[in-house]
Amino acid sequence: MVYFVTMTAIVTNIKQLVGVRQENKLLRGKELAELPVLNNAYLVIEDGIIAEFGEMKNLKPQTSNLKHQIDASGQFVLPAWCDSHTHLIFAASREEEFVDKIKGLSYAEIAAKGGGILNSARKLNEATEDELFNLAWKRLEEVSKLGTAAIEIKSGYGLSVEGELKMLRVIKKLKEKSSLSIKATFLGAHTYPQQYKENHQSYIDLIINEMLPVVAREKLADYIDVFCETGFFSPQEMETICKAGMSYGLKPKLHINQLNSIGGIQTAIKLNAISVDHLETMTDEDINHLAHSQSIGTLLPTAAFFLRMPFQPARQLIDAGCAVALASDYNPGSSPSGNMNFVVALSCIQMKMLPEEAINAATINSAYSLELEKEVGSITVGKKANLIFTKPIPSLAYFPYAFGSNLVERVMIKGEPIE
Ligand code: NIG
Ligand code: FE
Repeated sequence: MVYFVTMTAIVTNIKQLVGVRQENKLLRGKELAELPVLNNAYLVIEDGIIAEFGEMKNLKPQTSNLKHQIDASGQFVLPAWCDSHTHLIFAASREEEFVDKIKGLSYAEIAAKGGGILNSARKLNEATEDELFNLAWKRLEEVSKLGTAAIEIKSGYGLSVEGELKMLRVIKKLKEKSSLSIKATFLGAHTYPQQYKENHQSYIDLIINEMLPVVAREKLADYIDVFCETGFFSPQEMETICKAGMSYGLKPKLHINQLNSIGGIQTAIKLNAISVDHLETMTDEDINHLAHSQSIGTLLPTAAFFLRMPFQPARQLIDAGCAVALASDYNPGSSPSGNMNFVVALSCIQMKMLPEEAINAATINSAYSLELEKEVGSITVGKKANLIFTKPIPSLAYFPYAFGSNLVERVMIKGEPIE
């Protein structure tokens, strides 16, 4: 006879339980400012899942087997962050380029010195799968302590059949071993390797004929991504690559309009992209197109910050009715940080998003952009108990306002505290 004992955790005296939702909805336009909360609340977790929550006055005595009992007096409890765009697998940091940029070197000069994506690709191809796994594991540990419990991770620093597959196999292993919810994206089309600079078609053929069939056979990816940009992949090339990926069931999540507006938005929407990410450079027409589409606009403000670029036009996007998500773009070249607390703060400080809008964009909307909205992204009965407990703070707005303080007291993933 096997007995299943339900393990229960209870959180009491929560100053404010944030992001409580009965049902799921992708938030666009004005809806982004609506963040439902419950004051003086309790939350019950059973086997890692949110089982019940309500006001303290309605809390009934618990009879089941209590594993954790947490008094959250003075604390806000939020759904953990969903980081829907990262390049978390890389072999080495690139702070030498950072210093070169401070000294005034241009992107082209840095590339000529062997920097940029090709620098990361060279180092990645020299690293073993185990080395990459260990580095990525440490980064996942770091971001989970900062409150991230669901994350997308891309390939794209391999740029060779072996390198791309190696990266995706590392992500597959992370999926198996980590308690975070992880989605994998195949970004073979991140840039053209040197030997294909003058022969784009051969590299596209390599992606379509040599990489994609293995990615599909070994079930290594959930999504396909292309860096659509002047000097990288054209909208036409992106369409060809995406259609090949889509024939294997990979939906597009795309790098669009980071530096230039070259028609990527229109092509991405035509391809039913789950999300269009970056969006630093948007024309009024691009914004209008996105507002009338099903695609989610993912803003990556730390990349704009790090590259000293104009920030994404969050206000115009939201006011036009777009569905907006936030992500870290964690990568060694343009955003060497996976700290979603800073992403949220920067979104309020520099993009004039309201704290409620930023929190919604980094939780429920980001969950939609990972197609994990049924499991994560809000305080909803039946979803994973992925929670951020703040330190005692006076108000929710204090969280992005005091951007330099670590205000995360505790993180739980599937009901278990992260140590
Ligand atoms: O999302 N823009 C394309 N790719 C990355 C940066 C890659 C790199 O510099 O290593 C990004 O910003
Ligand atoms: Fe990126």
